[in-house]
Amino acid sequence: MAKITKEQLRSRMWFNDPEDQEMTALYLERYLNYGLTREELQSGKPIIGIAQTGSDLSPCNRHHIELTKRVRDGVIAAGGTVIEIPVHPIQETGKRPTAMLDRNLAYLSLVETLFGYPIDGVVLNIGCDKTTPALLMAAATVNIPAIALSVGPMLNGWFRGERTGSGTIVWKARELHAAGEIDDEGFMDVVASSAPSVGYCNTMGTATTMNSLAEALGMQLPGSAAIPAPYRERGQISYETGKRIVEMVWDDLRPSDIMTREAFENAIAINSAIGGSTNAPIHLNGIARHLGVPLDNNDWQEIGHKVPLLVNLQPAGDYLGEDYHRAGGVPAVVSELMKADLLPHPDAITANGLSMRENCETREVMNTDVIKSADAPIVAEAGFVNLTGNLFDSAIMKTSVISDQFRAKYLSNPDDPNAFEGRAVVFDGPEDFYARIDDPAENIDENCVLFMRGAGPKGYPGGAEVVNMRAPSYLLKQGVNELPCVGDGRQSGTSGSPSILNASPEAADGGGLALLQTGDRVRFDLSKCTADMLVDFAELQKRAADLVTSGGYAVPESQSPWQQYFREMVQPFDQGMTLRDAPQY
Ligand code: FES
Ligand code: MG
Repeated sequence: MAKITKEQLRSRMWFNDPEDQEMTALYLERYLNYGLTREELQSGKPIIGIAQTGSDLSPCNRHHIELTKRVRDGVIAAGGTVIEIPVHPIQETGKRPTAMLDRNLAYLSLVETLFGYPIDGVVLNIGCDKTTPALLMAAATVNIPAIALSVGPMLNGWFRGERTGSGTIVWKARELHAAGEIDDEGFMDVVASSAPSVGYCNTMGTATTMNSLAEALGMQLPGSAAIPAPYRERGQISYETGKRIVEMVWDDLRPSDIMTREAFENAIAINSAIGGSTNAPIHLNGIARHLGVPLDNNDWQEIGHKVPLLVNLQPAGDYLGEDYHRAGGVPAVVSELMKADLLPHPDAITANGLSMRENCETREVMNTDVIKSADAPIVAEAGFVNLTGNLFDSAIMKTSVISDQFRAKYLSNPDDPNAFEGRAVVFDGPEDFYARIDDPAENIDENCVLFMRGAGPKGYPGGAEVVNMRAPSYLLKQGVNELPCVGDGRQSGTSGSPSILNASPEAADGGGLALLQTGDRVRFDLSKCTADMLVDFAELQKRAADLVTSGGYAVPESQSPWQQYFREMVQPFDQGMTLRDAPQY
């Protein structure tokens, strides 16, 4: 591996520029003023940034404030100097209208920070859903040595002897409340029981998914993703991470060396095996774009669709974060995949300088009920399919969560297996949905397909997690629980519904969904991967012309300057929801 010398450290341009001692003095004096010494800044120690996402505003990542002390110890032990970097806060459940809007803002600001200041290498403090892609995207763009450190999941939640998991517990609490087993106070207590400690969500939602995939991409030390936040191993791996980033600077091991096309292919396979979130393709396609690695939703289907589900975590399964770690975490999953020859690139290099094979080959599954073997998986084909047609160019569906009832009702016609047709009922945004879903005048029945549009990156800035729609209450009373759902928005990673999601381009960006009308026939074929409105081409052309005349698909006003800029620059979900042209530097 190519080694760099002290003279080649990036930070030397600030702190020890032999051509310009005057500027060196100016840069230096202000970093000395809080007690750093000239020895720490000028003697050739790598300056290691710690991209700090922990704060009071970001409870999921707040424990990073503690862990950073151990990272510092590791950096100093390896001969580096630490500069902690505040990152724009992103908290998934607290940010209105959606934390997704902040992913690109945190990305932009961290790029500017890493580029413009004397940083030789960076530790990325990841955890809550969007913090992981935001920081990996920034590392990809600036392409200085970088290593990710998960904050770790919360401990398992418990209520009356049963595991209660983030997000999914709300459904159970509603049932208990409706049955009169708990009152309003009890409702709060049950929901709070799912969050017993510091850390990120303990279910297999977007946070566990993205932290696991950061490790799958090779950007974390092996085993790091799943160690629960309060465990001693979490502090220990923080120390190891601090030590390792200093070595990575000397080895000049950069994000583009680790996050290669091969690494993304590995991550796609691992996402299927863990039962990862439908938000993962958006984020990984986005990270890839910032590295110039081609990646799209076809890759997700081709590489990921046939990979089996091995990890038995809520919402789809039974267990939670502590169990996942004790069963062996990501390395055990990778080991199982390798045994079955299902990891596309075992020789992909990772942050510790070793390959996936070297890191994971000897890692064993410690609990086979939590991590299954590939010859006895939970679901045989666990990835996504990528649908295309006149409704949209690309939308994904997690076919592994299709229920038996759904399959029997919609996908079991002997003459036309794996396909269904229905009458479209179209909603423009979540407010329209809630206003109309229970209105008997809409005539919604079991032969309807519910559509949600105006919920994509431009329509509802950042995209809303609203495509998973419930049936009208009059149908629920008749026992009809699920209708097919399609939309240009997203769905929460803690939801286990087989909706057709992330439709790109969205209605507000010239997508075919804008031309759909309630009452149109629509057809979906999961074998051919098609999604179409059965409307004449001439009629569609007329509707398109009318839409132009009326000023285009209407969207609500922006509520902040960033919402406006974001809408002007953002690309569709299938292109990673990155900003226009995603330039490389
Ligand atoms: Fe932050 Fe789940 S809400 S990790
Ligand atoms: Mg979410």
